[in-house]
Amino acid sequence: MTQTSLFCLVFATTRVVAALQTEQDGSTSHKTLRNGVVMPTIAAGTGGYDNQNQQGKVLRNGLVMPTMSAGTWQYDDGEAEASVQAALTSGFRHIDTAYDYGNQAGVSKGLAAGAAAAKLARKDIFITTKVPGCGINGVDPKDCEGSTLSYLQKDYALLNSSYDLQGHVDLVLLHFPPCLVGKDGMALCNANKKISCTECDAIKAQWSAAVKAYEKGLFSAIGVSNYCTQCLQCLKDFKTQPMVNQFQLHVGMGDQGFLAMNAARGIVSQAYSPIGSGGHGSSDILSGPLTTKIAKAHNKSTAQVALKYLVQLNAAVVTKSSSPEHLKQDVELFDWSLTRRDMKELAAATFAADDTPSFECDNPSSATAMA
Ligand SMILES: NC(=O)c1ccc[n+]([C@@H]2O[C@H](COP(=O)([O-])OP(=O)(O)OC[C@H]3O[C@@H](n4cnc5c(N)ncnc54)[C@H](OP(=O)(O)O)[C@@H]3O)[C@@H](O)[C@H]2O)c1
Repeated sequence: MTQTSLFCLVFATTRVVAALQTEQDGSTSHKTLRNGVVMPTIAAGTGGYDNQNQQGKVLRNGLVMPTMSAGTWQYDDGEAEASVQAALTSGFRHIDTAYDYGNQAGVSKGLAAGAAAAKLARKDIFITTKVPGCGINGVDPKDCEGSTLSYLQKDYALLNSSYDLQGHVDLVLLHFPPCLVGKDGMALCNANKKISCTECDAIKAQWSAAVKAYEKGLFSAIGVSNYCTQCLQCLKDFKTQPMVNQFQLHVGMGDQGFLAMNAARGIVSQAYSPIGSGGHGSSDILSGPLTTKIAKAHNKSTAQVALKYLVQLNAAVVTKSSSPEHLKQDVELFDWSLTRRDMKELAAATFAADDTPSFECDNPSSATAMA
């Protein structure tokens, strides 16, 4: 399939059109929320999310993104299929994946099976996928635009292999800032986090390619991941700004400035690895004294406390699980609250202070977070 034919495949759904019109003609009045998020008065495209007891985040173009998302990182095809199916039947309405997770065919099977089992139409499911930064995982830095579009094309073909995407994904994120050093620059950029965000030209080029695809209706919302202040600054002159920034955040890290950085720009924060990713921080989160004490007080699990903490910080959250029981717990977050004292104690925990929001660029200092 050529890029042109891919775009021809796209049916601009009512909600996409509504969302684009909202942004382009400015006809909808907006309210600025206390956290700085700009919310159109009329929300486009709520789909079926609102009857699932899952509060949504209203993106700057009016699209509603379900707050809780089920991820698929590190699963093989079979695990991804089972997890996505279980997530949809457990109450998740938002699935998070990425081309470079290498399991899109399994995700597609899981979407088909889960949608059938839970009787969900395409509009009831919010799908996020991600394209690697230019220079990473084979995205050609010399043809950032063409390569970004061809990755999206391959991604769509795989996601569409067992499930009818109906021509669009809901949200596309640029997975990392471009990394132009070395053959496949990822390792080098990881080793020297300062590199990628000095690559303003590449950041602008990839964003520009993604915006063009968004404007053609290939996806309904557009965002970034692992972008720190310097990277976002590179995009400041674009009319279409990122709607979401997905970054690492969990109990024990402190917020490290990313929540304020995004809120100041009207970007919805989405926390990944909210349970510590099964590694650093996970044991403290799942069985440490602080979360255990708070979980007991609310008759909830420690994982629920960790997820609820992020929800109360006003972040969207992407977790993952291979267990249907865990998945059920992970969306049961909206009929109870942590106290102010719980929130204060969880925010003060430092057991995972070495974990950083972006593994590819430096954290903003508190002075630059709002710049
Ligand atoms: N943008 C990026 O660069 C980026 C980076 C990392 C991750 N992500 C996204 O974020 C998603 C989540 O992050 P993550 O995969 O690092 O992991 P995570 O959500 O921090 O942790 C997942 C682990 O938590 C366990 N878990 C989940 N719910 C639980 C519950 N209720 N009780 C006990 N244990 C529970 C799961 O084990 P069981 O299977 O045993 O339940 C799983 O091993 C990824 O899958 C991916 O979609 C994005």
